Amino acid sequence: MNFTNTETIQKQKFRIRNLLPEIGIDQARKEILSGLTNKKKTISSKFFYDKKGSELFEEITQLPEYYPTRTEKSILESIAPKLMNRNSSFEIIELGSGDCSKISILLDAVEERNQKNLNYMPVDVSMSAIENSVTELSERFPWLQINGYVADFIHQLGQISHSDKPRIICFLGSTIGNFAKNESIEIIQNLAKGLLKGDSLLIGFDLVKSEPVLHSAYNDSKGVTERFNKNILNVVNEIIKSDFNASDFEHRSFYNSKKSRIEMHLVANKNTLINSPLFEEPIKFYKGDSIQTENSHKYTISTIEDMLGNSELEIINIYTDPKKWFALVEFCI
Ligand code: AVJ
Repeated sequence: MNFTNTETIQKQKFRIRNLLPEIGIDQARKEILSGLTNKKKTISSKFFYDKKGSELFEEITQLPEYYPTRTEKSILESIAPKLMNRNSSFEIIELGSGDCSKISILLDAVEERNQKNLNYMPVDVSMSAIENSVTELSERFPWLQINGYVADFIHQLGQISHSDKPRIICFLGSTIGNFAKNESIEIIQNLAKGLLKGDSLLIGFDLVKSEPVLHSAYNDSKGVTERFNKNILNVVNEIIKSDFNASDFEHRSFYNSKKSRIEMHLVANKNTLINSPLFEEPIKFYKGDSIQTENSHKYTISTIEDMLGNSELEIINIYTDPKKWFALVEFCI
């Protein structure tokens, strides 16, 4: 996350804007501070994604145990030709875009006669993810118009400009699963409010499945998830100038079946004090105390349907894989 670089990078077919400075690092500091001084200590999972964290996450997506990305991509491949060839111009907005491998699947399916007038707008909190993705896409798809945004898509969605073309808003990867139930409902209903007739919303949901499969996806044998989890402490150190030592904490992740979610925690392996110029006094950790770093909710078709509440949204398609491990749900109003 880069809160200070306000430069706009403008090349012929693409542009990147960083909206994070408008939120400011103070907001991030406040959020971290309040999470760490809570009775139940937490760090928001959006702080995973500095440059190192984005790289580690990409590595996770290639692990044999981590099925979500691979499964979602296989579904995307099967629906791409139909989604992408509407014979009229449209815009794709991808929230939490990360690397460009998913959107590339969709773009590969765009027939030549549909290439003109397609706009792509990736939105991500990670500047490095947006830069890499835009650079790679502009080489692979020279015909594509790209407007990238470094932004918090929860709080800054309204500022992301769009044309009057119909839009497909993509929220892939089951990123929605990171949010508490009420928050995710709010997000979906906010997205719904921004939709016009003819727009659609495509959301990826990781589905409930057998516990061993879930468990090993978040406890991989190479320890990449462990490094990813611990890296959040380096990100926090950078933002609040604290002195967390990642080796004083253990990676812990498990399936909470009551709440249908994977929980990731960092558990202190000894008593330790953490300092930061922002703390009134050092934060105390006893051996065994934990910081929750992530929730990753798992859904069923019926819990997804329940999220619609009395919004105007309708489900028009549910695409899934043969094992029913992942669902891409297409909504419209
Ligand atoms: C990017 C939020 C979808 O929850 O599976 C991967 C993040 N955490 N391994 C997920 C993650 C641990 C991932 N999402």
